[in-house]
Amino acid sequence: MAYQNLLIDLKARVLYITINRESKLNALNKVTLAELHAAIVEAFANERVGGIIITGAGSKAFVAGADIAEFINLDINSARELSHEAHTKVFDLIENGNKPVIAAVNGFALGGGLELAMACHIRIASDNVKMGLPEVTLGLIPGYGGTQRLTRLIGRGKALEMIMTADMITAAEAHQLGLINHIVSQDDLLTKAEEILQKILSRAPLAIAAAITAVNASSRDGVNGFEIETDEFSKCFGTEDFKEGVAAFLEKRKADFKGK
Ligand code: COA
Repeated sequence: MAYQNLLIDLKARVLYITINRESKLNALNKVTLAELHAAIVEAFANERVGGIIITGAGSKAFVAGADIAEFINLDINSARELSHEAHTKVFDLIENGNKPVIAAVNGFALGGGLELAMACHIRIASDNVKMGLPEVTLGLIPGYGGTQRLTRLIGRGKALEMIMTADMITAAEAHQLGLINHIVSQDDLLTKAEEILQKILSRAPLAIAAAITAVNASSRDGVNGFEIETDEFSKCFGTEDFKEGVAAFLEKRKADFKGK
């Protein structure tokens, strides 16, 4: 499928999704959000895709936020609809996916860009990143999950400081806060993301999906994460991958997982 604002490439079971609006610093307009939804739904359903790396075109920005130009005509109701749709169709979709999604963050990751990176399971950043949630400078607050995911990732005090000051932070600061997993040079960004993703893809796919579900349960209101863990743990025992993993261990060979 051809997209207007995304570049898609599938190599070695990794689907690369590059947000490709470089002249607007890859800002997320409605078309881009709809295309992200379509690309991710297709990737999660496609057996040839093991995991996803999301990055931004060019070296200047991952994503510089939601497209501010599209905000001008929104009112209370249409803003609610936009936020709700974005949550369910893109950000929650990624977070709750059955396959690992890594953000390879290059340059500015602001507003919706940082929110997109935070919805991913792992964040690798190049040393030139600038991250922030500058919405209050526009008279807004983050609307694509930023108030929740930033708080979960770095804690309430630091999240409120970043959101209320609208300050951008460097790669080193983001790393120190636990907002990003690794910092690498721009040249090494995709290589590092690929290295981590390929390691994950060598593990049992249903166990990876179960791990995502169980870990995500820790931040879902009204659910007992320990019970979800018990459910997911026990379900693993019914998989062929479990039999293969244990057999391979006992036979001192590398497991050949089929995702069944
Ligand atoms: N929405 C729409 N367009 C955006 C954008 C956004 N979030 N961020 C950047 N752009 C556009 C600019 O309008 C400009 O377009 P133009 O060349 O047609 O005028 C182009 O991308 C380049 O941006 P520019 O501001 O000229 O680059 P810069 O290097 O001077 O500054 C930033 C970079 C990231 C500091 C600045 O673009 C910025 O503050 N962007 C908005 C960040 C933001 O508030 N995001 C949260 C949105 S809720």
